[in-house]
Amino acid sequence: MGRSAGGEALRLDRYLADMGAGTRSELKKGIRAGLALVNGKVEKDPGRKVTEEDTVSFRGREIAYEKYVYYMLHKPAGVISATEDRRQKTVLDLIEEEDMRKDLFPVGRLDRDTEGLLLITNDGDLSHALLSPARHVDKVYYAEVDGPLGDQDEKAFAEGMQVEEDFRALPARLEIVGSGPDKASALVTVREGKFHQIKRMFKARGREVTYLKRLSMGPLVLDERLLPGQWRRLTKEEIRSLKGEETD
Ligand code: URA
Repeated sequence: MGRSAGGEALRLDRYLADMGAGTRSELKKGIRAGLALVNGKVEKDPGRKVTEEDTVSFRGREIAYEKYVYYMLHKPAGVISATEDRRQKTVLDLIEEEDMRKDLFPVGRLDRDTEGLLLITNDGDLSHALLSPARHVDKVYYAEVDGPLGDQDEKAFAEGMQVEEDFRALPARLEIVGSGPDKASALVTVREGKFHQIKRMFKARGREVTYLKRLSMGPLVLDERLLPGQWRRLTKEEIRSLKGEETD
C-alpha cells in the first residue's frame, strides 16, 4: 500500500526524505533546529504527521508532495529485476538516492544477463498499463545471436511464429543489422512480454542469443548517456508521453 496515498499521514522527516530533501538523520537535525515549516509555522518535531494537503517547507524552500517517482535505469548484466534478494544484487540496490523511498519496483523484468532500459517507479497504475497484454506496448531489443540470420527469419518473426507448442508469438519485427556465418545482430520489436520471449523466439529459429539489450519501451527510449548501472529521474515530458498525454 502506498504509505502516503489518498491523504494518508506521513512523519515530517519521512515526507521530506521521500521528496529528496536530505537523509533522515540530516532532516531530523534540521527539523529540530527549526528549519522546517508546516503551514507557515515552525515545526520542531520530526515525527509530526503531515499529508499532501499540508504546505511544507525546509530551509526556506517549499517542498511539494510528489506522489510518484520515475527512474530510468540502464540495467547492467548480472543483477536481477527483483525488489529484494538476500543473495543476489537487485536493480533497486543500484539506485542509491539518499534514504530512497521504500515503495519502488521495476516495471516488468529483464533476465539477469540482459542489459538496457528498465523503468523503476512506485506508480502501480502506469506499470499495469505498460505491462497489460491488451495494450501491446512495443519493446525494442538489440540482440546478437550465434549464427546467420536472413529473410526467412524476418518473415517468420513478421508472421507470428509458433515458438513452442503452447506459445504462438504475436507478429514481431526483425531488422537484421549484420549477419555472418557464425554471428548476427538485429533489432527486434515485440508487442508482448512473455518470459524469455526474445531468447525463445530465436531458439525457435535455431539460434542462441549471446547478448541482449532493451532499447525502448513504448515512447521511453534508453538514454545512451547512461552507462550500465547508471540511472536518472525521468523528465516531465517522458512521464507525460508514457502516460499517453499530449506533450507541448
Ligand atoms: N526477452 C528475453 O529473452 N529476455 C529478456 O530479458 C527480455 C526479453
